[in-house]
Amino acid sequence: MTEEIQNLRGQALTEILTCKDLSKLENLRIKFLGRKSKISFLLSQIGKLSKEERPVIGNLLNKTKKEIENQISSRKEALQILKRKKSKPQKAFDITLPGRPTEIGAKHPLFQTWEEIENIFISLGFEIVEGPEIETEYYNFDALNTPEWHPARNLSDTFYLKNGMLLRTETSPVQIHVMERYKPPIRIIAPGRCYRNDKPDASHSPIFHQFEALVVDVGITFADLKGTLDSFVKRLFGEKIHSRFRPHFFPFTEPSAEIDILCINCNGKGCKLCKNTGWLEMGGAGMVDPNVLKEVKYDSEKYTGFAFGLGIDRITMLRYRIPDIRILFKNDLRFLQQFV
Ligand code: DAH
Repeated sequence: MTEEIQNLRGQALTEILTCKDLSKLENLRIKFLGRKSKISFLLSQIGKLSKEERPVIGNLLNKTKKEIENQISSRKEALQILKRKKSKPQKAFDITLPGRPTEIGAKHPLFQTWEEIENIFISLGFEIVEGPEIETEYYNFDALNTPEWHPARNLSDTFYLKNGMLLRTETSPVQIHVMERYKPPIRIIAPGRCYRNDKPDASHSPIFHQFEALVVDVGITFADLKGTLDSFVKRLFGEKIHSRFRPHFFPFTEPSAEIDILCINCNGKGCKLCKNTGWLEMGGAGMVDPNVLKEVKYDSEKYTGFAFGLGIDRITMLRYRIPDIRILFKNDLRFLQQFV
């Protein structure tokens, strides 16, 4: 019997070692180790052997079985490696190749300005709020003391939606949302996107960006408006730049003014940028009209406030000397890559 087992062992190891493919190897495993294999049969017959033979043959059979198992698994590994090497060598991973570079993005120049404006006002003790871009006529016009006949309400100037709502034409309606919700003291800025039915040209875009500033408290005066505005302008454009007011009309402020700043290109001497006036137009401002305060149920005898609105696109264009507002919205990488 010992000899039979030795022969079996020799046959199995040779066949396994010379086997050349994985499925044939599996057949060999079944042939030499499966339920119907010789080894399984011999193992089942051990009980019939004499007491002396039993441990000797049993040991030999188990050892042989283990040996065949090991031989099969190492042959399997070798065949798998061989298979991998043969299959599509062009797909092999070349660890010496350099990695793919990751492009580093950057913030759009408009949002760089936006964030800088926010930071300046945060340092002045203001809070940042945002309001909806889709508004009702009430918030965009009525509550802001803008009468029915005002030209801004014209269909040709404002984008009205089918449901009677509209795309806000300025950030001023955020003033109303804030005052409806909170009691004085109020000290906020509200940056955001606005829409007007303007034909695009170098200085007009149907989408543009503004920020609104609103301060309401006991004893707020025009001097607070001037001081706040000048602090902001100096922080943004440098110590030499200050602001001036020109009388104007806005429905929601009384008195109202337009804001100019000293030309940042020529410091007021006169140049092409300021069309030789020495000043650059920046936006509007004024003392909050008592009608607006009454509308939000503030006591207009007790509280006063100031407000102003400035264009974020305009400021961005001035800072980076961008000649045409439309470039800001084109997503042209040749332009944007300059701000990385
Ligand atoms: N909303 C005005 C505009 O878009 C700008 C403005 C003027 C805002 C006066 C104000 C203000 O808060 O007091 O033309």
